[in-house]
Amino acid sequence: MVFSITNQKGGVGKTTLSINLSSALALLGHRVLLIDMDPQGNATEGLGLKASSCEYTIYDVLINDTLISETVVQHQQKNLYVVPSDIGLFGAEAILATKPDRYFCLRQAIQSESAKYDYIVIDCPPNLGVLTINAIIASTDIIVPLEPNTYALKGMSGLFNAMLKIKDELRYYPNLLGVAINMFNPINALHKSIVKNVTASFPPGKVFTTKIQRNSIISEAEIYGQSTLQYAPHNIATELFINLAEEIIHQNNGRKRHQQARAIR
Ligand SMILES: Nc1ncnc2c1ncn2[C@@H]1O[C@H](COP(=O)(O)OP(=O)(O)OP(=O)(O)O)[C@@H](O)[C@H]1O
Ligand SMILES: [Mg+2]
Repeated sequence: MVFSITNQKGGVGKTTLSINLSSALALLGHRVLLIDMDPQGNATEGLGLKASSCEYTIYDVLINDTLISETVVQHQQKNLYVVPSDIGLFGAEAILATKPDRYFCLRQAIQSESAKYDYIVIDCPPNLGVLTINAIIASTDIIVPLEPNTYALKGMSGLFNAMLKIKDELRYYPNLLGVAINMFNPINALHKSIVKNVTASFPPGKVFTTKIQRNSIISEAEIYGQSTLQYAPHNIATELFINLAEEIIHQNNGRKRHQQARAIR
């Protein structure tokens, strides 16, 4: 399964979920590749890596035809691998704009890698530009993080309109794996009512049951270049990320069983 974590709204938890879901899936015994598609490089740094000390970044894959396998960095956590990014990736956007197959570069690049990993996770930048479209087209699924505030749903319509445009113009539409509520405060009545509205506005099962609560340990871990799971293994936040990862694994296993059954028929 290849999933992008995307929402054009900034600061909703794309990187936090990318880091911690990757770490949780790896902890649960799956081989995970996290691709940082954001020029801010937050996922790279949040996992304690420095793009400047890596030989290659995702820029080289998209622009210089470097094999993605050459750019993969093994993380100190078992089962976790990262393709780093840094500010140089901003320059890729203008170069990609001149390429006829500009939206398909990442998909082509990961084709040779996808069998090596159980999960490929892509952290997207906060816009719907060429990098995000590359990520969406390379993905079987998308996860949309959402902070429960008054503008939450408004931001999402932009994303889904863009997805429909991708479907019309590029003939591809990935599955919505789920909306992941982040920075949730379970004792805030407004949060609860927004989550209820969001849940009602999607088909059943499309909003993950696990809600990630606001918890300062999460940003503290990022500052120390660690996933929350590594930094605070006994914290409630770690438990929630593991629960969310288990929901993803459950959906993936269900899909695999379905595909096997269809192949037998
Ligand atoms: N559940 C949470 N509790 C506390 N802090 C959080 C939580 N989720 C995210 N944060 C913090 O909020 C900030 C924004 O989160 P994050 O970087 O994951 O958002 P983003 O959507 O990736 O942002 P951008 O759009 O800039 O890429 C970070 O400092 C992060 O540590
Ligand atoms: Mg981010």
